[in-house]
Amino acid sequence: MKIVCVGGGPSGLYFALLMKRQNPAHEITVVERNRPYDTYGWGVVFSDQTLGNLQVADPTSAEQILGAFNHWDDIEVHIRGRTIRSGGHGFCGIGRKRLLNILQRRCEELGVELVFETDVQDVTELPACRGADLIIASDGLNSRVRTKYAATYRPDIDTRRCRFVWLGTKRRFDAFTFAFEETEWGWFQAHAYRFDEDTSTFIVETPEEVWRAAGLDRMEKEEAIAFCEKLFAKHLEGNALISNAAHLRGSSQWIRFPRVVCERWVHVGGPDGATPVVLMGDAAHTAHFSIGSGTKLALEDAIELERCVAKNPRDLASALRDYEAVRSVEVLRIQNAARNSTEWFENVSRYVNLPPEQFAYSLLTRSQRISHENLRLRDRNYVEEFEGWIAERAGAARHVGGGAIPPMFTPFTARSVTLKNRIVVSPMAQYSCVAGLPADYHLVHLGARAMGGAGLVVAEMTCVSPEARITPGCPGLWNDAQRAGWRRIVEFVHANTDAKIAIQLGHAGAKGSTRRAWDGIDQPLDDTDTEPNWPLISASPQQYLDGISDWSRAMTRADMDRVRDDFVAATKRAAEAGFDWLELHCAHGYLLSSFISPLTNLRTDEYGGSLENRLRYPLEVFAAVRAAWPEPLPISVRISAHDWVDGGITPDDAIEIARAFKTAGADLIDCSSGQVSKLEQPVFGRMFQTPFADRVRNEAGIATIAVGAISEADHVNSIIAAGRADLCAIARPHLANPAWTLLESAKIGYTAIDWPRQYRAGKAQLERNLERERAAR
Ligand SMILES: Cc1cc2nc3c(=O)[nH]c(=O)nc-3n(C[C@H](O)[C@H](O)[C@H](O)COP(=O)(O)OP(=O)(O)OC[C@H]3O[C@@H](n4cnc5c(N)ncnc54)[C@H](O)[C@@H]3O)c2cc1C
Ligand SMILES: Cc1cc2nc3c(=O)[nH]c(=O)nc-3n(C[C@H](O)[C@H](O)[C@H](O)COP(=O)(O)O)c2cc1C
Repeated sequence: MKIVCVGGGPSGLYFALLMKRQNPAHEITVVERNRPYDTYGWGVVFSDQTLGNLQVADPTSAEQILGAFNHWDDIEVHIRGRTIRSGGHGFCGIGRKRLLNILQRRCEELGVELVFETDVQDVTELPACRGADLIIASDGLNSRVRTKYAATYRPDIDTRRCRFVWLGTKRRFDAFTFAFEETEWGWFQAHAYRFDEDTSTFIVETPEEVWRAAGLDRMEKEEAIAFCEKLFAKHLEGNALISNAAHLRGSSQWIRFPRVVCERWVHVGGPDGATPVVLMGDAAHTAHFSIGSGTKLALEDAIELERCVAKNPRDLASALRDYEAVRSVEVLRIQNAARNSTEWFENVSRYVNLPPEQFAYSLLTRSQRISHENLRLRDRNYVEEFEGWIAERAGAARHVGGGAIPPMFTPFTARSVTLKNRIVVSPMAQYSCVAGLPADYHLVHLGARAMGGAGLVVAEMTCVSPEARITPGCPGLWNDAQRAGWRRIVEFVHANTDAKIAIQLGHAGAKGSTRRAWDGIDQPLDDTDTEPNWPLISASPQQYLDGISDWSRAMTRADMDRVRDDFVAATKRAAEAGFDWLELHCAHGYLLSSFISPLTNLRTDEYGGSLENRLRYPLEVFAAVRAAWPEPLPISVRISAHDWVDGGITPDDAIEIARAFKTAGADLIDCSSGQVSKLEQPVFGRMFQTPFADRVRNEAGIATIAVGAISEADHVNSIIAAGRADLCAIARPHLANPAWTLLESAKIGYTAIDWPRQYRAGKAQLERNLERERAAR
């Protein structure tokens, strides 16, 4: 096979040498614009796992790379004069130059032709490419080949918010170091790691607006370096910062990271119209330097393509299809983690007010790929020490029964109510009432979940009037019989468990008068239902399902008074029923949510228009509810923190919404999202709504509940420990298992949890069995 690699960076060189190893008869050329052994960049970082892959792919170069590596285990975080160190992270650093030299030499040894000082303007005009069977576009981030065939590759380039500069220093860092320094313009951070005997990479980064405010956009290169030296002087210990970008002038050494994704990686065309031209490395994708994966991804692309060709020696088209399929998935995985990491560093100012211990933990777990238990595997002492710190801050003992208390099992207090742990049974409509009356079904359903170990059980959306119901099966609190029904349940929970119980009050608005979920979710009632449809009201006229739902009419001021008073009456009955906690439902497109979202509020009076106006009525209801609810008891407010529709509520709005409810006296914000419009395009995934709880908590400064695809103790521990939320609401897993909390605690080996005394024999057996399973693993 005749192969040409355009670009002699890590991907082009590595692919060339692997293919030559596979079959010495292959004719392989690498065309590079720089001179031999001439390159930019400081150190590159690999994890131990990447080194393992190199070892399998080409032991000879892997040996040399390993020999040249500086290995370190620890990460150090410096913030506000404190240093927090954790171990077990297993990274290696090597000079980029050194790495390329090893790969160039290995290419030469194997007989790859290296052509230097040839700047390829147009791949179709490169003589070496004529008659090639395969052309590799390994020409880096600003790939000309990618631009030429952009119609096929369909690249998407997202230029990120921070400015950063790659610098070096002779200061020998003995840990991967993150240093944060505050200036009058904002925060700057340095990412530093040693990659050879006496040199470290030192990247300085700050948001664009801080960079401009500090005047760095107008500084000459030397002046900017002096600025950074002064700012990070105590970390540099008298060493200078060095630039190796001699060709760059003024502020052009400061770049904004471009995140590159390509829809396709293979173009068939090239100089003779039928040659596959294949993207590899930075030309195909980039991953933010804060997870140190650019070079790793480039080398792993090369390994995969070589493997695919070996598997399909006579069918190059299939090999290329497999390569694209395998690598694009893997790259997306890394890019997702990289996006979380990028965003964390773009928003450092959100986290700097966390205590340094928690700030460091938040940094370590920022990509959501490293969880609490994963950190424990890396450094048990660090995690136990930190767990003790979290427990102490929550007012609990540092240790129980010889072990630290996991963050999930620390208590939480709002007003006079202390929850025994951080788990909330999220409200879930059950559609199992007649005339809004909670009876035996709810006693068993909620009673079982209260016995299941959660700190707080939130009863489903309970409607403040018959017209406020979603379906004829929804519970209510508009009469005394319903109050008595709820009281029976609350008394059971208080008499038999140490869980607290909350009620969620709501009004369905335009999403009311529908069938029970299993008969047709969101569908209007029909002849087969027990009741006829009732008239709908909301902020503005609305039809939730186009052409299907009944139209709602806009509320008049008289409607507003009536509905507000219904909320107040229900609140008083909830207090009389003995509930410990109240949640006001302002999410999911229901009545109060319909005022908040611009998608559903088209009013032109003082209740529509600006966010301030749209919040006016929900805040009026909140204030009336707050005044009617006993002062020592907390109220949480559930919001849709993102409508997932252009022109709808965004997470930025959610911060303002949270601030407004905080000022009005809310104790927590329960951060859900969506269900406001059928046009929504949510991005689901593990813990997908937790970033909203994180932002609200750390920007608006109010306690939050995270909810959505939180499904194991490890998730909860990471969220609570990192200060992303104060409580975690778990919904669907509690449908599968009312005792979810008890099972999860046993799974992580935490035995100092109380079970209902009637069930204790089951506790010992479960713990023993799980202990055996853990030992076997
Ligand atoms: C300025 C800069 C500094 C960096 N520093 C570091 C660092 O210190 N540590 C780290 O881990 N990562 C660093 N990176 C990221 C890292 O270099 C990449 O993720 C990784 O090298 C990707 O490998 P690659 O082979 O795909 O691309 P590259 O390493 O970019 O290699 C592409 C090669 O193609 C050549 N080329 C480009 N266009 C042409 C053309 N038209 N004709 C001929 N040759 C061409 C280039 O000269 C280059 O040698 C840096 C990136 C940049 C842009
Ligand atoms: C059957 C069911 C009913 C629900 N009813 C309500 C409700 O009454 N009020 C509410 O705010 N959310 C309701 N939700 C949303 C959940 O409280 C929760 O936010 C959502 O299911 C995401 O959490 P999970 O991934 O743990 O299931 C309901 C969810 C389910 C599955």
